[in-house]
Amino acid sequence: MPETLDNLLAETRDRLKAAGIESAALDARHLVSGLLELALAALVTRGREPVSDEDAARIRAAVERRAAHEPVYRILGEREFSGLKLKLSKETLEPRPDTETMVECLIPHARRIALKKGSCRIVDLGTGTGAICLALLDAVLDARGLGTDISEDALATACENARRNGLAGRFETLRSNWLEAVNGRFDIIVSNPPYIRSNVIPDLEPEVKFHDPAAALDGGEDGLNAYRAIASDAGRHLEPDGVIGLEIGFDQKQAVTALFEAHGFHMLYAAKDLGGNDRVLVFEHDPAAPRV
Ligand SMILES: C[S@@+](CC[C@H](N)C(=O)[O-])C[C@H]1O[C@@H](n2cnc3c(N)ncnc32)[C@H](O)[C@@H]1O
Repeated sequence: MPETLDNLLAETRDRLKAAGIESAALDARHLVSGLLELALAALVTRGREPVSDEDAARIRAAVERRAAHEPVYRILGEREFSGLKLKLSKETLEPRPDTETMVECLIPHARRIALKKGSCRIVDLGTGTGAICLALLDAVLDARGLGTDISEDALATACENARRNGLAGRFETLRSNWLEAVNGRFDIIVSNPPYIRSNVIPDLEPEVKFHDPAAALDGGEDGLNAYRAIASDAGRHLEPDGVIGLEIGFDQKQAVTALFEAHGFHMLYAAKDLGGNDRVLVFEHDPAAPRV
């Protein structure tokens, strides 16, 4: 007798619970629905339907990976971000729901600039899957984006994600160490750089430290290396009425603001993430500072 969807879902939940996975019930639903390409609601409405032996074997293999603390979306190979389906690869960070805060903060600026100038040029430094830049391009039709990264694997994945989401015509990539290889000025400079202090990385949960790439996490001794590099070059690449959006760690608002103020920027506002932590800072040129 083949398994039913109900039985397989319960077996998955119990196996994950036994492996100490706190979100066992939720993960079981996402894994099973993702692997069978079913909507979450179908798990309820189609619970009595049989699952083929082949699909049951695929699910059981995936459950063992989750039991060993591989994140659900790494196993599925893709995740949703701001309504886009993004493929993940070895050297890309899994985009986080908190980063959607950045997209929401920057959409009004991109629209304002596109309305005024007829277009809006965006550069996303450390683009990873392309998440931030592609979500902005999806929301603002007159915007064009450049995604940069130090990782060739990430750039290839970002290009593939642009193609999958019908945004390839307005998205380009460039391998660059922050702004080193970037030419010209942009209306929006955005980055979610690595910002975790090196000595904290061994204490992160296994889902993060063993599965997100180190280059996407490690911000150096004080977590601020990338902000220093970006702050020192950003003035040469920002249009006069442009903005810079930066994702930060929950305790980095003061330090990152001081760094950017020292380079002639002024903080327009800070936004909190879904958990109430400071997560996004938006800067503009300080009108009183000399232009570079
Ligand atoms: C925290 S991840 C953010 C990825 C993506 N923007 C997002 O929000 O999901 C940081 C990204 O910065 C890239 N990166 C690390 N060092 C870099 C460098 N020196 N220059 C450019 N990008 C770098 C990593 O490869 C990674 O893709």
